[in-house]
Amino acid sequence: MTDQDLMIELQRQNRDSLGFIPDSTLRDRYCKQATYLISTHRTAGKIGFLLFGVPRRNEALYIHQTCLQLDYRRRKHAAELVRRLAEIATAAGCTEIRLRCAIDLPANSFWRWFGAELLRTTPPKTPGSRALNHYALYLDTDPHPLFRSRTIQPCVQSASDFSAPPSSSVEPNDGSSLLLPGSTQPTSTL
Ligand SMILES: CC(C)(COP(=O)(O)OP(=O)(O)OC[C@H]1O[C@@H](n2cnc3c(N)ncnc32)[C@H](O)[C@@H]1OP(=O)(O)O)[C@@H](O)C(=O)NCCC(=O)NCCS
Repeated sequence: MTDQDLMIELQRQNRDSLGFIPDSTLRDRYCKQATYLISTHRTAGKIGFLLFGVPRRNEALYIHQTCLQLDYRRRKHAAELVRRLAEIATAAGCTEIRLRCAIDLPANSFWRWFGAELLRTTPPKTPGSRALNHYALYLDTDPHPLFRSRTIQPCVQSASDFSAPPSSSVEPNDGSSLLLPGSTQPTSTL
């Protein structure tokens, strides 16, 4: 299974939580720019992913989407993805990690568990969309205690792999890539 196939399949299985990113965007933005991380299980293979914006010095790095296969949840795989992203953000000189999460998702518990600070909640922008919680994860504070003593794992890519984005690239957290089911306007990045 390619990385893009995994993203497409998990999006299909988690439509209510993730919204929709077109295959062409997965391919031309995230895969081409290598702005994603993959979670791999030793026997099951690829089990999850995290999509993010282009890391830029002195700017926030945005998580656009993350998802783990149902059978492999609650085993700290997503936490490991976020921890790896924090390494990338730190190496690139980003100020913090930011993300948005629909207020009704269980994933809010994950972000709070990880130590994300709730910055604000914004109301639904369109009929059929949902209110969003906006979170920040600060890089200068320790991650969750669980990860303080852990050995750093090799990343799928490192910050040094990132070059200046092509001029046609989309700004971090433009939020334009996701459509919630039934809506026609971009609503949420997560
Ligand atoms: C959110 C998601 C990525 C978390 O992945 P995960 O690998 O299960 O998360 P972790 O195992 O790293 O969770 C770490 C801790 O976060 C909290 N947490 C995670 N998922 C939770 C849930 N559904 N309900 C309550 N707490 C949760 C728990 O405290 C957990 O530790 P514990 O299992 O020891 O209690 C996963 O549930 C998922 O893919 N959901 C569907 C897609 C989605 O909602 N994506 C995010 C949109 S903002």
